[in-house]
Amino acid sequence: MSGIFIQMTGMSGAGKSTMTFKAADILREMGYNVEVIDGDEYREGLCKDLGFSKQDRNTNIRRLSFVGKVLSRNNVVCIMSAINPYDDIRKEVKLNNTLAKTVFVKCDVDTLIKRDPKGLYARALLPADDPNHIPNFTGISDPFEEPDDADLTIETSDMTIDNSVNELVSFVLRNTGEKL
Ligand code: ADX
Repeated sequence: MSGIFIQMTGMSGAGKSTMTFKAADILREMGYNVEVIDGDEYREGLCKDLGFSKQDRNTNIRRLSFVGKVLSRNNVVCIMSAINPYDDIRKEVKLNNTLAKTVFVKCDVDTLIKRDPKGLYARALLPADDPNHIPNFTGISDPFEEPDDADLTIETSDMTIDNSVNELVSFVLRNTGEKL
């Protein structure tokens, strides 16, 4: 079985991390070596110096996908869960790694605002002078460029988590030469 680097892309709360960690558990049970590269985790360490400007977000994705490239070429199934909102950097990632695939975790903003598990959308929607306001929030006051070249799109607004996880696991199996 060959390695793969999946670059997730999708807004905060769309389900990227939840589905990635669950899919990783299933794949490990099947015998795969799996590494999750989680945006939140790296922003506490390797990417602690970065903010949320376009330049910093792209630097963030460059660092994370470098780790993904090194691992995937050593036969690891590597899933990067980050917002990854810009088309130019996603294309760069694919050019730099032939094992890279793009998975779009799609969910409309109204649903995300209703879900809001971390309470971040509520804070992004506060007036700019409120001390709890989050500026440059993806999908509210910062761009999210939907990919038109995703290798897989998982629409989570009206799908159960289990179904989303199954789609992701099947995608990995198809793309690592495993017979279903
Ligand atoms: S990315 O744009 O560089 O890919 P990344 O996935 O690492 O973003 O980090 C996103 C996480 O940072 C969100 O899930 C959220 O918890 C937090 N966050 C804090 N500020 C922002 C913001 N302005 N826009 C988006 N996410 C933010």
